[in-house]
Amino acid sequence: MSDKQRITVIFGDCRDMHELPDNSIQLVVTSPPYFNAPFDYPDLFRTYDDFLELLAEVSKEVYRVVATGRVACFVTDDMLVRGEKYPVVADVTKLMQQAGFRYRDKIVWVKPKGYTRISHRSGVLLQHPYPMYFYPDNIQESILIFQKGRFDYDFQKKIPVKREASRIDVGQFNREEWNLSVWRITNVLPKPGRIEEGIAAFPEELPNRIIRLFSFRGETVLDPFVGSGTTLKVSNGLGRYSIGYEIDRELRPIIVSKLNGRKRRGDINFFERKDARNLRGVLKNRVKKQRTVTRTGSG
Ligand SMILES: C[S@@+](CC[C@H](N)C(=O)[O-])C[C@H]1O[C@@H](n2cnc3c(N)ncnc32)[C@H](O)[C@@H]1O
Repeated sequence: MSDKQRITVIFGDCRDMHELPDNSIQLVVTSPPYFNAPFDYPDLFRTYDDFLELLAEVSKEVYRVVATGRVACFVTDDMLVRGEKYPVVADVTKLMQQAGFRYRDKIVWVKPKGYTRISHRSGVLLQHPYPMYFYPDNIQESILIFQKGRFDYDFQKKIPVKREASRIDVGQFNREEWNLSVWRITNVLPKPGRIEEGIAAFPEELPNRIIRLFSFRGETVLDPFVGSGTTLKVSNGLGRYSIGYEIDRELRPIIVSKLNGRKRRGDINFFERKDARNLRGVLKNRVKKQRTVTRTGSG
C-alpha cells in the first residue's frame, strides 16, 4: 500500500483500532451515534449503559492513537428519549477524562430556528397552554474539545508539519465569529433524496473550522464514526490525510457519492479489516516523515 492514498475507510468496529499505531493521529473529529435519537437511531442501544460502554471503549482507543498534545473533538448532545433527558455531554466528558484527556473547551453549535424535525416539542404547550407542559425546541449541539497533554509550540527546535501553509485566515475568523463559544451553522436536514438521508450527518462547515483550527496540512485526521464521510471529505479538501471507521457497510455508496464531490482527487481506499494489515507501517512512516519536514521546506 502506498502513502499516496489520502482517504482510508476501514469497515469495522472502532472500539478496536489496532490498525492505527499509538500516537499516529493528529486530530479526531467525530460524532458518535446519538443515543436512541427518535428519528435516526430509535432503540439502537438496549440501555443507556450500553451506549456509555461503547463510548468508554472508544475513548480509550482514541486516547491511545492520538499524538501527545493533540486534540479530539466530539460533536454530540444530551438526548431526550420518551420524556427523559440523558446527560450525554456530561458523561462523554467524564469518560474522555477517565481515558486520560484534558477537557479543553466546549463550543455550542446553534442551528437555525427552522430546525424543527426532531425538536418541535414546544408545540405541546400550544395545545395545552398551561404550566407543566413545556419542553423547549432543541436547536443546539455541543462540540466537546479534549486534549492529550499539551502541545509543544517550539517551532524552532521541532517543525512537525507545514505550518505556514496552514495559516488561518484571520479576516474570515473574525467575520464569521469563529472566536466565540457559540457557532451559528446551518445543519444538514436528512430529507428523503439527500445522500445523508437516515444518517445524522453534521454540516461541512463544522469539521472545516475544527480541522483548520487544530491541525496542519499533511497531518492525519481520524473519524471513528464515519457515517456519510463528512470529516473525510473536508479533511481531503484541506490537504490532510484522513482515516475513518464505520460498521455499516451499506454506507459505502453514500460515502463514495459524498467524497466524489471533494476538491482533491485521488483514491478512496475501502478496507475490510483483514486487508488493512499494512496500514500500521504506512502510518508509522508518515509520522516519521512529518517529523523531518524543515521549516523552510514546509511552505
Ligand atoms: C452520527 S453518525 C456519524 C455522522 C457523520 N459525522 C456524518 O457527517 O455523516 C454515527 C455513525 O457511527 C457508526 N457507528 C456506530 N457504532 C460504531 C462502531 N462501534 N464503530 C464504527 N462505526 C460505528 C454508525 O453506523 C453511524 O454511521
